[in-house]
Amino acid sequence: MLSPARRADSPLAAAAEVALRANWREGRHRGGLQYGYTCPAPPRYRHMWHWDSCFHAIAWRLVDPARARTELRTVLRSGRPDGFLPHTVFWDAPAGWRRAPLYATRGLLGDWRTESIGPPLLALAWEIVAAASPDEPDFAGEALHELAAHMDWLARTRDPDDDGLLTIVLPDESGLDDSPKYEPVFGRLTHDRLGYLLLIERARRLRWDVRALTERYDHHVEDVWMNVAYALSLRALGRLAGDPSWTQRAERVERALLERCYDERTGLFFDLAGRDERPVRVSTWSALSPLVLDGIPEHVRRRIVEQHLFDARRYHAPVGIPSVSMEEPTFNPRWDRFRCWRGPSWINTAWLLVPAMRRLGYEAEAATIVASLVTATERDGFREYYDPLTGEGLGARNFGWSTLLVDLLE
Ligand code: GLC
Repeated sequence: MLSPARRADSPLAAAAEVALRANWREGRHRGGLQYGYTCPAPPRYRHMWHWDSCFHAIAWRLVDPARARTELRTVLRSGRPDGFLPHTVFWDAPAGWRRAPLYATRGLLGDWRTESIGPPLLALAWEIVAAASPDEPDFAGEALHELAAHMDWLARTRDPDDDGLLTIVLPDESGLDDSPKYEPVFGRLTHDRLGYLLLIERARRLRWDVRALTERYDHHVEDVWMNVAYALSLRALGRLAGDPSWTQRAERVERALLERCYDERTGLFFDLAGRDERPVRVSTWSALSPLVLDGIPEHVRRRIVEQHLFDARRYHAPVGIPSVSMEEPTFNPRWDRFRCWRGPSWINTAWLLVPAMRRLGYEAEAATIVASLVTATERDGFREYYDPLTGEGLGARNFGWSTLLVDLLE
């Protein structure tokens, strides 16, 4: 792996910096709060998204660590003192009238942030950016209280059955909006159907009380990827704070994933849906994501790599790692009417899975995946996602977190 400084010298890094600078927004919000963040890709994605910003900061640290720190502080500032952090924040531009009803804000007429959450990656990003901040050594410790409050908020409000696993009540809370894994759970209330508006309205009516929602309805999941993100951040907070109790909490999440979501027959991890917690047997990259947790037994992680990532019928594609197994009947490698996470390869998932493959010694295969994405970005730029069969860039252009590819260069 190149050192951060060497990676920052590459031509890809120069292109990444151009993309990130073009998407940077800063100013003061009407309420008085100062902000500085990278929008994923204007004009379609003009706002701040929690997990996008965590990834942006990780990419920024290679070229401008001060911006990385500003972006993470802005994420923190978007929350509430009780530890809640929103999925989307409308700092400098309200949502357009056509899209506004699709955001899970407090009132139907919108607000400056959503009441929904995103994959909780902030503590992980904080640790990575802190390691690149020798110019500001206090950064590592400055938000320990708030990061802890955020983790406590998640445990308190999003794990109503106290089994260690967080629950999501909207499909897009995991960031995987239209993934086919949500179809059997949300049915006509899925993200790409009109019923989604009903799902938001129902959560509003119950004031986002997840305990009440999960007791009354079956439209919720203990989502594998969401909990992988949670465990990653708990471990990062343990290291940042030097407090082993956070690590123990991460281990509890990992044990719960293994005991409750792991399917011995297929070697995949499945979400648990509804009140009877039925496993959702759809193979998407989320079912592979526990690969990134070193606390998952090595033989389980090797099985994910060898039986899924290396299988040409499943995830071993010419370009990147498909977001849905090519074996699934729903797999679609192409652009799909703005529906995302239905097949194309994304760079943030490669950023998560490739280092985990390397840690297990699958260096050559990891290098092939990275090289395929470098070729695709050199040709088509930093796109939202890529056709895993042809490498064609699809979706939004100049897409923020796709610059993470620089961090995978060797
Ligand atoms: C799409 C993606 C989501 C992302 C958002 C902003 O909705 O599905 O994961 O956070 O765009 O980039």
